[in-house]
Amino acid sequence: MKQKYSFGFEEFSDIAELNMDDAALLQEARKITQKAYAPYSNFLVGAAAIFNNGEKVFGTNQENASYPVGICAERVLLASASMLQTDEPIKTMAISYNNLSRNGGSDRPISPCGMCRQSLAEYEERTKQPMRLILSGMEGKVIIIQSAVQLLPFSFGSENLK
Ligand code: THU
Repeated sequence: MKQKYSFGFEEFSDIAELNMDDAALLQEARKITQKAYAPYSNFLVGAAAIFNNGEKVFGTNQENASYPVGICAERVLLASASMLQTDEPIKTMAISYNNLSRNGGSDRPISPCGMCRQSLAEYEERTKQPMRLILSGMEGKVIIIQSAVQLLPFSFGSENLK
């Protein structure tokens, strides 16, 4: 039997089309890119998230001279979230980046890498709530996804260990 996986998402041409809360969160993600430590890639990633309780948490990528040691902004954020607000669901996470490399534009959304998708899926599972993702560069198009796990079909989770 043939099966199909698909999901809907929203697309906006500019931050001005977002509601106030989403626009504010995306602005914070854009701003926090300044705190990235990315001297090797010059690709500064910023993430900002809001919990159900209204608190916010942030993350930026943290690179290392031993390249694989570097950590993405999303997982830096999730580690802080888990430590600061144990088990509190995250309503929405905004992810932005500033590509400082020569000729590098920052006007198209990026989406989390595979390893981060796995971490995002676990956070949703653990807190039993979908996490919305707002994806955008420093300007231009914005994509909103209703649940992070939609980016990871057939994901491996704790259920599989039982
Ligand atoms: N990076 C993130 O922090 N998040 C993403 O979603 C994609 C990639 C980082 C990893 C590395 O420090 C730099 O961006 C270039 O890959």
